[in-house]
Amino acid sequence: MTTLLLGANGQLGRHVRAEIAGLVTCARGQADHSLDLTNRDELERLLERVRPSVIVNAAAWTAVDDAEDHEAEAFRLNHDLPALLADWCRRNDALLVHYSTDYVFSGSPGRPWREDDAVAPQSAYGRTKLAGEQAIAASACRALVLRTAWLYSALPGNFVSAIIGRAGRGEDLKVVADQTGSPTWAGTLARATRDLLTLSDRIERPELLHVSGRGAMTWHELAERAVQLAARRGIIPGIVGVEPIRSDQWPQKARRPAWSVLDGSRYERFTGQRLPDVERALAECLEQWSNAPC
Ligand SMILES: NC(=O)c1ccc[n+]([C@@H]2O[C@H](COP(=O)([O-])OP(=O)(O)OC[C@H]3O[C@@H](n4cnc5c(N)ncnc54)[C@H](OP(=O)(O)O)[C@@H]3O)[C@@H](O)[C@H]2O)c1
Repeated sequence: MTTLLLGANGQLGRHVRAEIAGLVTCARGQADHSLDLTNRDELERLLERVRPSVIVNAAAWTAVDDAEDHEAEAFRLNHDLPALLADWCRRNDALLVHYSTDYVFSGSPGRPWREDDAVAPQSAYGRTKLAGEQAIAASACRALVLRTAWLYSALPGNFVSAIIGRAGRGEDLKVVADQTGSPTWAGTLARATRDLLTLSDRIERPELLHVSGRGAMTWHELAERAVQLAARRGIIPGIVGVEPIRSDQWPQKARRPAWSVLDGSRYERFTGQRLPDVERALAECLEQWSNAPC
């Protein structure tokens, strides 16, 4: 059984590499196969050469604000790529694992979002990711589409590492306190991917599952908790101030959902595994700060 990992050098890709042995990796940079995934001909040639029985697609256009001005380019990564992969998997009876986002939602149902709640993306990024989900669903291939939220890790380029970096330089912080979500450690999602692959025989059609930290925090609470834990573990010299602000005091190009809490109970029933709560997962990420996969 050959498992091909696309986006092997991204935040999630690196964590998946740490959890699953024997992967064939593909990335724009260093990997078993170097490829720009918008090159359809080269990708199809790679798939025919490797003939994977599982494709894990951790590649995506993830620059949420830039997508507002570059929706067509984001669409190529977030829709055209999974559509091509789903079609190849359907024709070759392979399993596709793909990741999507809480940004397909807006408003609030008064409880955590379930997989079959109505979607209404507010941003170009959300629209392109939803289009990717829908292409996989329409292809009826064997697939797992894992919606996640607020992904972070010890690697550079995410909210938690940015907060800890700035706190480490002694900067006081202003952080949005009117958006609530389910922060998800990339290690949690990589382990969930590993555990789901052991159940791959049960997957006969596209399955949509929410996989995130269990529980909820605002960005402000996440920042405050990360600073406290980082100071306690000696990752930063000490606590800095974290001032709560409103979203309109931190203007961003793309609109974000005010309520991004995901209900992971379908995943928990499917695997028999409980998702780690948001506090525990953050603590585990910080415990591994100095030996994060890189
Ligand atoms: N980050 C979040 O907060 C978040 C939240 C919800 C859902 N998600 C979803 O979770 C998944 C993983 O996200 P992540 O945080 O790991 O993202 P990431 O760190 O930005 O990784 C994305 C990867 O895609 C690769 N990629 C982009 N364009 C490419 C191209 N044309 N050819 C080849 N590779 C290309 C990037 O390659 P380079 O390394 O060469 O740039 C990068 O390695 C994505 O599906 C994302 O939509 C993320």
